[in-house]
Amino acid sequence: MNPSKQDVVRRILAGKPLEPREHGVAFAPSNIALCKYWGKRDEELNLPMTSSLSLSLGKLGSSARISASSGIDRYELNGVAVDPQSSFARRTKTFLDLFRPDPGTHFNVVAENTIPTAAGFASSASGFAALTLALDKLFGWNLERRNLSILARLGSGSACRSVYEGFVEWHAGKSPDGMDSFAERLGNKWPELRMGLVVISEAEKAVGSRPAMKQTVETSPLYAAWPSKVVHDLSELKVAIADRDFNRFGRTAESNALAMHATMIAAWPAVLYWLPESVAAMKRVVALRAEGLPLYFTMDAGPNLKLIFLEKDADAVTKAFPAVQIVAPFEP
Ligand code: PMV
Repeated sequence: MNPSKQDVVRRILAGKPLEPREHGVAFAPSNIALCKYWGKRDEELNLPMTSSLSLSLGKLGSSARISASSGIDRYELNGVAVDPQSSFARRTKTFLDLFRPDPGTHFNVVAENTIPTAAGFASSASGFAALTLALDKLFGWNLERRNLSILARLGSGSACRSVYEGFVEWHAGKSPDGMDSFAERLGNKWPELRMGLVVISEAEKAVGSRPAMKQTVETSPLYAAWPSKVVHDLSELKVAIADRDFNRFGRTAESNALAMHATMIAAWPAVLYWLPESVAAMKRVVALRAEGLPLYFTMDAGPNLKLIFLEKDADAVTKAFPAVQIVAPFEP
């Protein structure tokens, strides 16, 4: 039988303290994949088919303050008590269940997102990473980053990359228990790099990433091509980052995102996250590039775009996309 989440937690926390302290507080950045994670080889442990590479968004992310409480769990998000029936509450509770020393231990969680959740940008990665880091402080486990990354992955796959700043690679790993499937920071910095968040729709997505990945892996004839595309793009991105070759970097990220969407569009039923305005924005990026502006985009499981450019072109990007929110991932 395949290992369960609880087996992994037990193994990582063997010999660690079970008594909560007063509270644990932590922040974790959001991350945007440049080479995407799309498709699981194990649904229970969120083990990916392929490795991936992301960039963390500096000060944009989630903070969590967690304390032990009696009676029931209580969650607050951005200053408002969370409805226990909401998907946020259910996912948080399922994750916290893995860490209760006994059924009588309950948690009080106060979370804040600095990434605009309502604006359709995923906060689950930074949210689960912040919760994991806050639990580590609450219990005084003092775990190494690799194990924190593995625990965060149990909440949501991409959360394993959000326990680090900067460029981060998530190694797919091979082992059935996923102990070799963790993220690691790449040493490189690129201070001039910018990401621009472009909101196309604030509506919650119709299909979550979990069922969308499953549908793609099970039915898309194009999925067979995805693993080799990832191997190629990962090595391209690493060279581009090391050489600070912006066009090679941007081209690889944009092509990777489009290839990921192509695998979903070929699934049945098709998973199509794009809105007409998404396509218009993509075309605008391509047209600006033809005019000489070094600008690229990436997209995740939703209709919004993330623009990739250099600091020197920030004014031109703002002129073309007046509502863009610009992030400087390497700014202190
Ligand atoms: O970690 P999840 O289940 O939210 O999936 C993330 C999937 C993408 O955002 C589309 C790609 C990625 O690598 O972050």
